[in-house]
Amino acid sequence: MKILVINGPNLNMLGIREPDHYGRETYQDLCEKIQKHCDKQNVDVKIYQSNHEGDLVDEIQKAYNNMDGIVINPGAYTHTSIAILDAVKSVNVPTVEVHISKVEEREDFRQVSYVRLACVKTITGHGTDGYLEAIDYLIEAYK
Ligand code: DQA
Repeated sequence: MKILVINGPNLNMLGIREPDHYGRETYQDLCEKIQKHCDKQNVDVKIYQSNHEGDLVDEIQKAYNNMDGIVINPGAYTHTSIAILDAVKSVNVPTVEVHISKVEEREDFRQVSYVRLACVKTITGHGTDGYLEAIDYLIEAYK
């Protein structure tokens, strides 16, 4: 099974940015944690991060006919990007939305998620463990 884990803007700043919301693990820590988990589960994982909306769209498009599942944290693009929603809809790959923080308890502008409309599941507020839960869900439901 092949899974794409995709992170949007500012997630490369984990460990530095707003630790009260996002914790103290760095982006590198997150990548290692995901890689280790996938190795254990015998899953082939590609981990990708970009601060640029079009690059995220390009990476989602590459998943077409190539990936069995996507785990996506689009960062702030969650709340603004119809392009990312359309990209996920286009590729027909089961996709789980993950947020490290509990977005539903934060500002009003974080209550909208466009990408959610194309996702089979949403996980919020479980810290970086949410990515592992998303991977396990995809294994369970689609392997
Ligand atoms: C986030 C929540 C978003 O609102 C925010 O813009 C992020 C991170 C999260 O993981 O909790 O960049 O997606």
